[in-house]
Amino acid sequence: MKRPVAYVAGTGRGVPAHVMTNHDFAALGIETTHEWIVERSGIHERRIAQPGESTCSMAAEASRSAMQKAGITAGDIDTIIFSTATADRLLPSTAVDLQAALGATRAAAFDISAACSGFVYGCTVGEGMIASGAAETVLVVGAEKMSGIVDWTDRSTCVLFGDGAGAAVLRRARNQPAQSHPRGILSSFLRSDGTLAELLYRPAGGTSMPLSEQVLADRSQFVRMAGREVFKHAVRSMAEACDRALDGARLTYADIDLLIPHQANVRIIEATAKHANISMDKVYVNVDRFGNTSSASIPIAIDEAIERGVIREGMTVLLCAFGAGFTWASMIIRF
Ligand code: UT7
Repeated sequence: MKRPVAYVAGTGRGVPAHVMTNHDFAALGIETTHEWIVERSGIHERRIAQPGESTCSMAAEASRSAMQKAGITAGDIDTIIFSTATADRLLPSTAVDLQAALGATRAAAFDISAACSGFVYGCTVGEGMIASGAAETVLVVGAEKMSGIVDWTDRSTCVLFGDGAGAAVLRRARNQPAQSHPRGILSSFLRSDGTLAELLYRPAGGTSMPLSEQVLADRSQFVRMAGREVFKHAVRSMAEACDRALDGARLTYADIDLLIPHQANVRIIEATAKHANISMDKVYVNVDRFGNTSSASIPIAIDEAIERGVIREGMTVLLCAFGAGFTWASMIIRF
């Protein structure tokens, strides 16, 4: 097994206090039911940002908590990698806003765009920077204000998403406390297929179709998703991603203590666990409480799992993700 180059020194999360339940859609005039949403997705409630809460503010809360648990200060961070599909503004990056909010004056800061797979993509980039010598301490964040980009008149999408942020501090593995089984990232796998981009996308609002009266009338600046198609690809790709991460680490499913899949839909999660022959008591699920928070879903789940004692020292955890692009990704981490 490979000796890890980077390890997770601390994690954190920042989610809005406001809870929106499935019953709250009635007040918005959305024709849906709690039963439909639970049966098709497993979601009971999600957090929704209120005025004053932004992608950056949620990310800052998550990052401060991760830094505190890692025992570092903002001045120790030399790179901030910020995954988001819901940037607070289009230029400059949300990463530099986070850098300013944290006072991470030494850090290079940039956004990455890989939708729901973005946190695993970001950790892979961060690990690579540590391996190359370009960085020692990297803050990786997944933060999303999905409520700002969903169409609140489209019942097929608006019931699925939620807001939140998660963060992890990655550090060079040789700096970690002495251990017989070194902690760290054991393998990762990244893939994408842009030929399928239009199954989950925002048609307008970019430079190819800027905002116009027509765009606003069509509501084409908001997320559009071919749910059934996305579902099929998600099941297939998450299974492939899990297999490839194991190949990379030369492990088998029997070596995995916990599976943390992207939290989009409990049926996709169950299909992924079935493929891996991992029983559901070894799968972390919080989609019922947060909905789909895109790239924030995995780091929020990791942080909760550590806090609840579900992830304990020495455990081997498999992450896998799938999202718009399509992108898919996986990673094995020993905590
Ligand atoms: O983050 C990564 C990417 N995203 C995903 O992984 C999401 C992937 N897709 C899914 O999770 C599922 O496809 C959904 C949860 C989006 C939908 O579940 P489904 O079982 O694929 O349902 P469907 O889209 O086939 O819709 C079934 C019916 C339709 O009615 P008809 O045509 O059968 O009469 C919809 O109009 O459900 C109707 N429907 C709703 N009914 C009540 C759609 N949305 C709603 C709603 N409430 N909110």
